[in-house]
Amino acid sequence: MRVEIYKDYQEISDFASSAIIDQVRQKPDSVICVASGDTPKLAYQKTVEKAKTQQISFSEVHFIGFDEWAGISPENHGSCSLFLREIIFSPLGISEDHIHLFDAMASDLDKECKIMDDFIYKIGKIDLMVVGIGMNGHVGFNEPGTSPTSKSHVVELEETTKSVGQKYFKESQVLTKGITLGLQHLLDAKQVILMANGIHKADIIRKTFQNEISVEVPASIIRNHKDSLVLLDEAASSLTPKDLNL
Ligand code: GLP
Repeated sequence: MRVEIYKDYQEISDFASSAIIDQVRQKPDSVICVASGDTPKLAYQKTVEKAKTQQISFSEVHFIGFDEWAGISPENHGSCSLFLREIIFSPLGISEDHIHLFDAMASDLDKECKIMDDFIYKIGKIDLMVVGIGMNGHVGFNEPGTSPTSKSHVVELEETTKSVGQKYFKESQVLTKGITLGLQHLLDAKQVILMANGIHKADIIRKTFQNEISVEVPASIIRNHKDSLVLLDEAASSLTPKDLNL
């Protein structure tokens, strides 16, 4: 694991977008798993800009959506699917057969998990995962207590996740469950970039790095990944003791 601390959100977004561009430059048919959320939004927008100015084609890239709110329509503005389509897939012109998202409206969500796991198995490894961290330490919807060997699964969301999640929706939503890739996918990915910015993430970042690696803080598992990069801004890293030498 490598940790880089930058001044602010602009800088971590700039760094992350360059890493995505480099990945695709080196391997045009990369498999990239993307989380949604406020954190990676600017990095994705910068990726789109850089792809255009540097003429990097994403036409062979396969994109996987990390997670989704169960029962929320992909047309809902707060869904992870619509966020990813609007911010990154459509601007990059990604074709439908290269977009792999959970159908969170499906009657059989376990089948959706199997479809995703089978696809990842068939395609081989995920080359790059770009993830954020929830206020309770979750990655994707891998909530506290999730097994490090988990693959895709359906999860009961914690109260924190349900209440923080309201920020994505225009009107208040009943959020109960999520569907997500598992922590084993994260550990198996060739490279993982975890981003966090803002003072509101400072305490969970401290818990992620100061305490023992624990299922209670799922993001802490990233410390076991040999090619993981953690991008923090100064605010998010401000409560983490300096003697940890992040
Ligand atoms: C959300 C998503 C995660 C995301 C995290 C942080 O609930 N399920 O994929 O990384 O929580 O979100 P944000 O970047 O908006 O803080």
